[in-house]
Parts: sequence; C-alpha cells; structure tokens
Amino acid sequence: MTTPFGDFRTPNITPDRETGIGGWSLANFTQAMTKGLRPDGSHYYPAFPYTSYNRMSNQAIADLKAYLDTVPPTHNKIPSHNLQFPLNIRRGLSVWKSLYFDPKPWTNNEEKSAKWNRGAYIVNGPGHCVECHTPRTLMGGLDTKQHLKGLAKGPAGEKIPDISADPKSGVGSWSEGDLIFLLKLGLTPDGDAVSGSMAEVVKDSTSHYSIQDFKAVITYLKGSDTTK
Ligand code: HEC
Repeated sequence: MTTPFGDFRTPNITPDRETGIGGWSLANFTQAMTKGLRPDGSHYYPAFPYTSYNRMSNQAIADLKAYLDTVPPTHNKIPSHNLQFPLNIRRGLSVWKSLYFDPKPWTNNEEKSAKWNRGAYIVNGPGHCVECHTPRTLMGGLDTKQHLKGLAKGPAGEKIPDISADPKSGVGSWSEGDLIFLLKLGLTPDGDAVSGSMAEVVKDSTSHYSIQDFKAVITYLKGSDTTK
C-alpha cells in the first residue's frame, strides 16, 4: 500500500507457520484485530484498519479466524515497510493510539432501528468504509467531525467521494436502487464503472453482501431511518 506516510507491505495472513499467521492462537488474532497489537505486544500501524475491526464481536472475529485457518498456507516472506523517520519507529504508535484509537467495543444506538444499527456496524466496523471515506488529520487520525465526507487525496492518492447523507455532495439523494447497483455491480448512476480501490472493495467485499445488508448500509448512509 502506497500512502502519504510511506509504503506499507501487507503481511501474509495465510496459515503458513513461518511467514504467515499459522502459529497464532485465537487470542493472538483477537488482540491484533481489536487492540492493534502483534503477538509480541508491539503496535501495528493503522494502515491495518483495526481502528474499525475492533468494533467486531468476538464471535465474528473467531469466525474470520476459522475461515483463515482453512486457506491454503503459502510460504511468502514479505519485506518490511518502507517508511520515513520518525514513522518507522513503532513505539511512537502508542502516542497515536492514545489520540485516535477508541478501543471500546461496538454498542448499538438504542434510539435507532435494528436495520440502521446493522448498517452503522458494517460501515464503521468490518466494512471499514470510514477508513477511506473520512478525511484524516495531519497525524493520520480519522477526522470524526467530517464523517464520510470524502477527500481530494485518499490513502492511495486517489479522490474519494463524499458518501455522507448530504443531498448535494453525498449520497442523500441517491435512490436505494442506485446505491445497490454501485455496491453490488460497481456501476454509478451514469453507468460508469467505479475505479481504483473502490473497484476492489466492490469485487472482494460489497458484491457479496446479502440484500438485508445492502438495505442496512443504505439506511445508515442516507440517514433514512423510517422504521423507528
Ligand atoms: C480502500 C478505500 C475504500 C474503501 C474501504 C471504501 N471505499 Fe467507497 N470509494 C473509494 C473510492 C476511491 C471511490 C471513487 C471511485 C471512482 O471514482 O470510480 C469510492 C466510491 C464510492 C461510492 C460512489 C460515490 C460517488 O459519489 O460516486 C460509494 C457509494 C462508496 N464508495 C461506498 C462505500 C461503502 C459503503 C464502503 C464500505 C462498505 C466503501 N465505499 C469503502 C474508496 C473506498
């Protein structure tokens, strides 16, 4: 991953014991996903979006681990990240985490419907839409005041659109059908194919959602919670 902070090399997460995560216990995996800590206790860079994954339940994380355990182990040693000083010092991440990492587990908003809460959980948790679509501060933390408002230069240097409920700049006035088309097929209302990292998100992630999950995500994005 090429980012304004340097080049991150995404690790091997197949169950290979030497170069992957084959030797990890469920506790190791849960700690990585929810606390951003390696098995040896050192910090992960938030290029690994544990800042969103930490909202997943222990059961959801155990399910992911069960799946990853069945992927064919591949021996593939990944070189270390190529980051500039002082970012190359992992210890500095404890300061970053104290500022930008909210380690609290997910709780539903009781004022909202189950559908809205499911959408909020997907967008802010496992779907980690916020990680690309929310602008960041100079230190690389999510600028929560500008939730999902898009940015001129996202993590990979590309323009990221506003997907907040704003009817002009965001998706507030998109129809449910338009949004399903985009998330299921990667087609915009003008019939163009989505490009860049969103094309990967659609192919590897959102195109596999159930119809209930599309509706939940759309209810949350459009802020159209009519059921409660
Ligand atoms: C890795 C970064 C990344 C992630 C994660 C991501 N997106 Fe995107 N998204 C993009 C980029 C880049 C575009 C612009 C694509 C283009 O212009 O063709 C985009 C475009 C979109 C659009 C079209 C908006 C418009 O105005 O054209 C929607 C809707 C959208 N994303 C929703 C989502 C949702 C929902 C999620 C989470 C499930 C998500 N995205 C996760 C990078 C990302």
